[in-house]
Amino acid sequence: MISSVNRSDTAAQVAALRWYHTIDLGNGIVTPGIDQTPLRLAELDLPASLAGKTVLDIGAWDGFFSFEAERRGAVRVVASDHYAWHGLGWGTGQGKAGFELARRTLGSRVEDRDVDVLDLSPDAIGRFDVVFFLGVLYHVPNPLVALERVASVTADMLVLETVVDMVGYRRPAAAFYPDRQLNGDPTNWWGPNHAAVEGMLKAVGFSRVKTISTIRSAPYRAARAAYHRFKGKNTIAAAYRQDRAVFHAFK
Ligand SMILES: C[S@@+](CC[C@H](N)C(=O)[O-])C[C@H]1O[C@@H](n2cnc3c(N)ncnc32)[C@H](O)[C@@H]1O
Repeated sequence: MISSVNRSDTAAQVAALRWYHTIDLGNGIVTPGIDQTPLRLAELDLPASLAGKTVLDIGAWDGFFSFEAERRGAVRVVASDHYAWHGLGWGTGQGKAGFELARRTLGSRVEDRDVDVLDLSPDAIGRFDVVFFLGVLYHVPNPLVALERVASVTADMLVLETVVDMVGYRRPAAAFYPDRQLNGDPTNWWGPNHAAVEGMLKAVGFSRVKTISTIRSAPYRAARAAYHRFKGKNTIAAAYRQDRAVFHAFK
């Protein structure tokens, strides 16, 4: 926690950075993230206690979910990332400064590892009771290969959050996004539907997969698509098929 002497110093350092995550650093200081992270946390349905667990947070960026795992009692937390920490078409161009400032301010013992998801292996990083793979799957060109790497370092439970697309198709399917077709971002590649995510997780060795988020009904998606069009946010067809979803998978 921040002493009152250091509060204004910390506030100035926070203000000097651009943040992805919204992190409560205590003493009334909250990082001004572009992501409404506490709202996303509520969707994940994480175990209330992670006491005694080891946790790996893949694609941790500013570290919100790593710090949350530590807060829930995890005995060891490793935050891994690569792109955002190098500003390689990712993040704020300031490397790991946000993560490091948050870790320092929170007095956190979260460890950090600079590693691409495709280089994850038990030899490289070990195996973890619980693995977070949040907001990363749609950024990898070869999702099944990435999930194989993720499965290799998961001892028990994976929490996966992703963009889904082709929602409403019963068969496993995925939308492909060449040329910035998802949100104008050239690092977005694939939007699988729920059945495709579940199928891929089983294919890489998870024995049980639970879809945590509600699969929205067609009328709901139609109303939301009309709203998106009204707001100029997305095309009606894309908004009708796209969503975000959370899955828990177990070895
Ligand atoms: C949309 S952000 C999500 C950040 C955080 N996990 C969350 O859910 O708020 C995507 C993150 O994935 C990371 N990422 C994308 N591709 C990656 C890869 N191949 N290896 C490691 N990290 C990657 C980015 O650097 C970035 O931090």
